[in-house]
Amino acid sequence: MKTKIQAKFKELYGDGARLFASAGRVNLIGEHTDYNGGYVFPGAIDKGIMAAIKPNGLGVVRAFSIDYNEASEFGLNEEDKPAQAWARYIFGVCRETQKRGGKVEGFDTVFAGDVPLGAGLSSSAALESTFAFAINELFKNGIDKFELAKIGQSTEHNYCGVKCGIMDQFASCFGKAGSLIRLNCKTLEYKYFPFEPKGYKLVLIDSCVKHELASSAYNKRRASCENAAAAIRKNHPEVEFLSDAKRIWLEEVRADIPEEDFLRAEYVIGEVQRVLDFCDALERGDYETAGEMMYQTHFGMSKLYEVSCEELDFLNKLARKMDVTGSRVMGGGFGGCTINLVKDELYKPFVDAAVAQFTAKFGHAPKVYDVVISDGARELK
Ligand code: GLA
Repeated sequence: MKTKIQAKFKELYGDGARLFASAGRVNLIGEHTDYNGGYVFPGAIDKGIMAAIKPNGLGVVRAFSIDYNEASEFGLNEEDKPAQAWARYIFGVCRETQKRGGKVEGFDTVFAGDVPLGAGLSSSAALESTFAFAINELFKNGIDKFELAKIGQSTEHNYCGVKCGIMDQFASCFGKAGSLIRLNCKTLEYKYFPFEPKGYKLVLIDSCVKHELASSAYNKRRASCENAAAAIRKNHPEVEFLSDAKRIWLEEVRADIPEEDFLRAEYVIGEVQRVLDFCDALERGDYETAGEMMYQTHFGMSKLYEVSCEELDFLNKLARKMDVTGSRVMGGGFGGCTINLVKDELYKPFVDAAVAQFTAKFGHAPKVYDVVISDGARELK
């Protein structure tokens, strides 16, 4: 990837580019908790985005995507929003940097990635973080890493139509090889947990299902949570986010909110606590208990939050049947991957069975990715 990017940059724009990269992410547990002020437990992975970039002194951005084999050129004012969806991420990052008082001048860039698109591995956060980090370095803005993550998040909100939380951009800005990171999304306190489970592997099975309406369904889930939190707040003014609420406080307002919102909130309140219990289990080296919680998360995401689908439920059920330690749908849902914590000796039989049985049932093969927890945004020297 690196040589391809460098060669293309040279061909289009000449010498002297610097190289930056950032990563996609996995999340062990804590799903749809970030925008509710709860905990998440992600890590950056060895799949990401890489970009060659150099100021051009022209006041415009000239960008080339190797994966789309397409160029885009745009200015740096609000009305210059480019047509291509991929270019809008870069444009959004430029604009959000400017809104924070950062300097952004014209630059040339060529980039490529190896995060599978639509698999729930946050290819867009990898793209945003790469450019947020690179622009910060290039124009010496001195913006801190949290604000770089927020630049990516605001790009999603204001230029891509997804009201996402902070998890993905946080993971890709703060990722560290070999460590997962538990983040409190309310206080932004975080802690690295070295994660090298002896005798177990993490494997992702990608259903290769993508749902067109995923972003509007995602925004709808968020609105349900905010509605439930607002109802609870009437009785308990200390509830700023849904994660501040106790289960019994939710019961109190059950009759006042749509049943759907109740179920969504029930899932979130349970999930926030599960992250803490999961981390405790990991610290004790008790992977079996941790894995059981992944199944509980899957159940909640499927039956209460309703962001799973037939293909993901099938993979989850198969994992259970084969005694896989933990398994659940990962990320926003509506397609994408299951994340599985598997004993070494079960790895091959499980992966083989998943591929064969999934293919027989759905007529297309799932993809399998081994997970390596890696570094996030950085400059490549
Ligand atoms: C997507 C969003 C994140 C988070 C997850 C669900 O990945 O970008 O902010 O809400 O879904 O946990």
